[in-house]
Amino acid sequence: MKLRITVLPGDGVGPEVTAEAVRVLQTVAEFAGHDFQFQEKRFGGAAYRASGSPLPPDTLDACLQSNAVLLGAVGGPDFDELPRHLRPESGLLQLRMALGGYANLRPAVSYKSIADCSPLQPAATEGADILVVRELLGGLYFSEDRGFSEEGTSAFNTMRYSVEEIERIAHVGFREARRRRRKLTSVDKANVLEVSQLWRKVVSRVAREYPEVKLEHMYVDSCAMHLVNDPRRFDVILTENLFGDILSDESAVITGSLGMLASGTIGGTVNLFEPVHGSAPDIAGRGIANPLGAIASAAMLLRYSAGLEQESRDVEFAIHSVLEAGYRTADLARGRSRIDLVSTVQMGMQVEKVVSDILDSRHAYHAV
Ligand code: IPM
Ligand code: MN
Repeated sequence: MKLRITVLPGDGVGPEVTAEAVRVLQTVAEFAGHDFQFQEKRFGGAAYRASGSPLPPDTLDACLQSNAVLLGAVGGPDFDELPRHLRPESGLLQLRMALGGYANLRPAVSYKSIADCSPLQPAATEGADILVVRELLGGLYFSEDRGFSEEGTSAFNTMRYSVEEIERIAHVGFREARRRRRKLTSVDKANVLEVSQLWRKVVSRVAREYPEVKLEHMYVDSCAMHLVNDPRRFDVILTENLFGDILSDESAVITGSLGMLASGTIGGTVNLFEPVHGSAPDIAGRGIANPLGAIASAAMLLRYSAGLEQESRDVEFAIHSVLEAGYRTADLARGRSRIDLVSTVQMGMQVEKVVSDILDSRHAYHAV
């Protein structure tokens, strides 16, 4: 198959981790006989520096003309003082809006081999496997009704959702739950917010179309507590934009490092794949960032944008297997005093090796 992928390395550790994700995708293409074409474009702070805009028109055009976008990370302390519309984060929000993907899927799983990285008890996290389905184009992030009062003594944002926006994200949540363990927890603040009362009503109505999925409603504060107390009780968590932003970072605690987490945004014209972690300016350029979140995002790209479910699983298996073999980047060193750390590139090459071995043997088998 032919696939055009726009790569937006972005800022900080973004270029380092996306290079490893591209390495793995190239290997998949080569060994499985696909034609993946990569085109790299400036984005975020890097684009602002070069052209005065975090999302230059040629970057956006390239994204819109591709089959999938692979993004590293954006932002950094250099850009904190810029007006809002020029900030790298604003480029990211503009890109999300332009690509139209409203469903952001953020899996958080516990890996047995790095269970010691989590501050949670291994007994509590073992086997945890959560998918946060975060609404990505609505709520406080995108409301037009926002700003500062004239005197600057107050400021406001508005959380607003339409029935249609809730319905479409609810369908994604239920469909994902149906392919998993058929449990969906819808998270809101319906004891206080009207928008959450509407959310609850609409989700309950959509649930009737998925009788095989068990639905529960939970308040966001309670969910935040249960996530670290008993993460195994969750399968799919369905929630609005800001709650999902917060809960998905929190769910990284289950895995042990934010560097491990992947995300994929679907539902629009072009799907967007990016690790959950940020640009990590403190470790940028040192070659020590964990590329596994970016590589796992590439696995999601294979699943959701290329329809290559088997190859997607192969990459996920490879991630498990390099961790089991003991390879760790610096963020995974917690709890171990003497441990051999690997660099970003070494970690990427280990994953690449496992993936090529799997694909090679499968190919050889089919050729016989
Ligand atoms: C994320 C990030 C972004 C968000 C920022 C960088 C705009 O935190 O992808 O979770 O809040 O969505
Ligand atoms: Mn976030």
